Amino acid sequence: MAIERTLSIIKPDGVEKGVIGRVISRFETAGLKPVAIRLERLSQAQAEGFYAVHRARPFFGDLVKFMTGGPVVLMVLEGENAIARNREVMGATDPKKAAEGTIRKDFATDIEKNTVHGSDSPENARTEIAYFFPEVQVHAYEWKAKR
Ligand code: CMP
Repeated sequence: MAIERTLSIIKPDGVEKGVIGRVISRFETAGLKPVAIRLERLSQAQAEGFYAVHRARPFFGDLVKFMTGGPVVLMVLEGENAIARNREVMGATDPKKAAEGTIRKDFATDIEKNTVHGSDSPENARTEIAYFFPEVQVHAYEWKAKR
């Protein structure tokens, strides 16, 4: 199995609900280690650029407004099959369809306030990591604790 990196965002509703610690704990329990992490409030330009692929969708304006409405936690997660594993741990985009025990099932409010974002493919993971963490090398390395 390949060691991969993926971009994760704890969205403003997750920060507001006070579940940053519990969300990160679920990632760590699933073998996904944060290798970069930053809390910040996105600008309109940052959010529009990040979600540019959704620009033509009817929910784009609301999505950008929501994502800039409060601070987010930006993270690079690393682990075996990190991209797919992160998506399993998050659950379906719409929390009504999310499986039991997933982050979105347990913490999300609705399809917009769905607590977390995760890259959906290796190509998007590369692009999204570079978008928020240009200084982080894209290719994963074996994470080893220094003792
Ligand atoms: P995310 O994985 O961050 O990528 C795009 C986001 O658009 C998605 O999660 C949802 O939170 C948000 N969104 C809002 N409304 C919709 C919708 N009707 N269909 C899909 N995504 C939506």
